[in-house]
Amino acid sequence: MKRKITILGIESSCDETAVSIIEENNNKTKILSNIVSSQVDVHKEFGGVVPELAARSHIEKIDLIAKKAIADSNVKIEDIDAVAATAGPGLIVCLSVGLNFGKTIACSLNKPFIAVNHLEGHALSPKLNSKINYPYLLLLISGGHTQFLNVKGLGNYKRLGTTIDDALGEAFDKTAKLIGIEFPGGPKIEEYAKLGDKNKFNLPKPIINKGGCNLSFAGLKTAVLKISKKIKTKKEKYDLAASFQKTVEEILLKKTKIAFNEFKKNNLSKKNIFVIAGGVASNKQIRKKLEKFSLEEKFEPIFPPLNLCSDNAAMIAMVGLEKFKKKNFNKLDYPAKPRWALDEKAIFLKGAGVKL
Ligand code: KG4
Ligand code: ZN
Repeated sequence: MKRKITILGIESSCDETAVSIIEENNNKTKILSNIVSSQVDVHKEFGGVVPELAARSHIEKIDLIAKKAIADSNVKIEDIDAVAATAGPGLIVCLSVGLNFGKTIACSLNKPFIAVNHLEGHALSPKLNSKINYPYLLLLISGGHTQFLNVKGLGNYKRLGTTIDDALGEAFDKTAKLIGIEFPGGPKIEEYAKLGDKNKFNLPKPIINKGGCNLSFAGLKTAVLKISKKIKTKKEKYDLAASFQKTVEEILLKKTKIAFNEFKKNNLSKKNIFVIAGGVASNKQIRKKLEKFSLEEKFEPIFPPLNLCSDNAAMIAMVGLEKFKKKNFNKLDYPAKPRWALDEKAIFLKGAGVKL
């Protein structure tokens, strides 16, 4: 295998247009460029992501973002070894933009093309900065997904638990909206929370004592909705944010404990590693609580740096790098996959009537 490998990564599954170039040299991974263009201004007035507008924005920007990523990296485009692009899960109109762009570059340069699962990007994101060996326990907390997974190897996942309704990021965003914070409000909740009384409102923790390490946030959201209708002052809003943040932390700690036990049952290696990734992993208070708890439970906690928690293309290139080393390439007719679970054998656990 070549000593130096250079991968171009592309991400367009939702509302971030991103291109990155990473390099592995003598077993050391380095991000050479990592450009992320967020579409916050495009979607702000609608209070959420509008797929058609998101796709248009990807189309308008992807050339420029790619040019900048290539220029910043100081790599000649013909010197890259492969092109990796997100193929799913996500909004099909958005996925198609980055996927087709990636296929076109790969084809024109006559380089291998690698289709990447966006969730696998989050799962491998800490590998951009830390050496981590498989297996490890992953808590993926993003805007669309909330899962505990045993990451046994590249492309080899066993789901231990999942949300049966809303994703955690979604719960943060909805709570922010109800409190009157402008889209995208999720990240602002922790700032509000710092100013409030976390014991002011007693919020529910759905399925906290059942369902193993599966999670549920819909009941919590409904409780926030009811309280938000009654409160008026800024102080009360801070209190609600603080109570929500505290409740989420308690739910995560309790479910993490169960996931630790599940993971340990099947872990033959001496080390227990716990990776926390996805947009919500940039919540500093959640990081602090999970870090402390992991160390108490003899798990080594690993978080991606803050800029690699939310959507980016360096994590897509990281999966591309691992797949490249295994010569795991894809044909140019690889489809965009709006739904694409990491553990495809796990049963669907969503909606009313789910048996836990
Ligand atoms: O991973 P990500 O960038 O996109 C998806 O793949 O979904 O995650 C975005 C989610 C959003 O719901 C956003 O509100 C949430 O991550 N998020 C946060 C914070 N920063 C981003 N939630 C809580 N606290 C934060 N600091
Ligand atoms: Zn994501």
